[in-house]
Amino acid sequence: MAPTIAIIGGTSLTTLDTLKITHRETLSTPYGEPSSPLIYGELSGRNVVFLSRHGQHHTLPPHRINYRANLWVLHHIGVEQVLATAAVGGIRADMEPGRLAFPDQIVDYTWGRHSTFFEDNLKEVTHIDFTEPYCSALREKLIQAARDLGMTAHESCAYGATQGPRLETAAEIRRMERDGCDMVGMTGMPEAALARELGLSYAACAVVANWAAGKSSGPITMAEIERNLASGMDRVKLLLAQVIPRLEAV
Ligand code: HPA
Repeated sequence: MAPTIAIIGGTSLTTLDTLKITHRETLSTPYGEPSSPLIYGELSGRNVVFLSRHGQHHTLPPHRINYRANLWVLHHIGVEQVLATAAVGGIRADMEPGRLAFPDQIVDYTWGRHSTFFEDNLKEVTHIDFTEPYCSALREKLIQAARDLGMTAHESCAYGATQGPRLETAAEIRRMERDGCDMVGMTGMPEAALARELGLSYAACAVVANWAAGKSSGPITMAEIERNLASGMDRVKLLLAQVIPRLEAV
């Protein structure tokens, strides 16, 4: 049976070793090539499809990701629910590296990305409601699964999406803080909006990889990011294994 659940793997989750892989499929879309082949398999007894957002070998920077092709292909094969993983920098004082967080709001600072399906050959101009950018039912499942596993996770927080690929300046992070952002990442948009345009249920599980610029002394190093993500993504895998069997009823 075709999977109705997709996992989009972000930085540090280019493969999902907990997935019992059955087959792979390379599809192209009216919007171009998705980031990676679709990897089909079984996770916790459910059919799941996995897509690596930055490519199989982590070579696509955030602004070069074909978000439209990624979401379009998942919708095309019959996916209804999308769980996205993401690495973020911590802005709020309690967003320390290593923490998991399930954002419930977004502030979008990205630019120049193809950010909508509703632009060409329209019968009418379309504006989606995006008051609540993430699916609340899916978020609830993530929150409950994390609680049941005894994992500490931030359950209400705003994701600021920056253009990248450079990290931010300290002043940019101060501005984002004033804007109400609790964490910063580079891939949350337009992914979430495109999912909504296609009617997909979409929620994100973020791992705090580092303190955002200016929130700790000294520069942000890739070594620090990689160390925190390695342990964080192990917990994300446990969480996915716990939450996926619960998704039927969403
Ligand atoms: N800024 C933007 N994106 C990120 C960061 C950050 O500090 N850490 C991980 N992804």
